Amino acid sequence: MPYALLQLDISDRIATVTINRPDKLNALNDQMMGEIAAVFADLATNAAVGVIILTGAGRAFVAGADIANIATQSAETLETLSALGQRTFRAIERSPKPVIAAVNGFALGGGCELALACHLRVASEHAKFGLPEVKLGLIPGYGGTQRLPRLIGRGPALQLILTGDTIDAVEALRLGIVNSVVEHSTLLDTARAFAQTILKNGPVAIARALQSVDDGLDRPLDAALANESKLFGSLGQTTDMREGTAAFLEKRPASFRGE
Ligand code: COA
Repeated sequence: MPYALLQLDISDRIATVTINRPDKLNALNDQMMGEIAAVFADLATNAAVGVIILTGAGRAFVAGADIANIATQSAETLETLSALGQRTFRAIERSPKPVIAAVNGFALGGGCELALACHLRVASEHAKFGLPEVKLGLIPGYGGTQRLPRLIGRGPALQLILTGDTIDAVEALRLGIVNSVVEHSTLLDTARAFAQTILKNGPVAIARALQSVDDGLDRPLDAALANESKLFGSLGQTTDMREGTAAFLEKRPASFRGE
């Protein structure tokens, strides 16, 4: 499917989705939100893809929801927009394939929330993070008030949410918002290296690991552990598990088929 505001490249089982509206710092309008939902739905079932990298064109990852699009909306429409964005980002978080945000520049508001919905975050030294919605008389509405405290804890999350301050990549690393910070010119290569490391592992195991972590985070520990056992056991039905363990015992590299 062709996309007007996204660029999609697939090579070596890595899909790179580039948000491409640089003149507006990749601000998220309705069309872009629809295209993001569509591309992740397509990639989830594309057998040629094992890992997805999400990045932005130009000097922003995403500078937030399109403020022009929300300035005059009614309370009902704002609630609908929030629910739609949340659904789209939740689908990214529930993707059976790891999604790596390669944060190239501004990740503000909805852009920060989009990065938070990804599984891993690699930041350029130029990246900037923040949830400035309160400066507009709003609150983060695409999951930011929920994912940020779950990721870094209530106190540091509330500091960002209540001040609306923008922080640089090094501070984002210190707070645990990003997994690593790299020189700008090496950002995509670093994200691809992460992807290649993941691609060496059993694809079904990767999907089940993502599921176990996401299922478990909001369950009581005992229920989450029971779910982990169920998912662990389900891997006994895969040829990948037989291959991975046999390869170790035979002192050879495993050759996974994703089944
Ligand atoms: N929504 C709509 N348009 C946006 C936008 C957003 N969230 N963020 C940037 N843009 C547009 C600007 O209006 C400008 O458009 P124009 O050239 O037609 O005037 C263009 O992108 C470039 O942005 P500009 O503000 O001129 O760049 P800058 O380098 O001076 O500042 C930012 C960069 C990111 C600090 C600034 O654009 C900003 O604060 N953006 C809004 C961030 C925000 O509040 N996000 C949360 C939204 S809920």
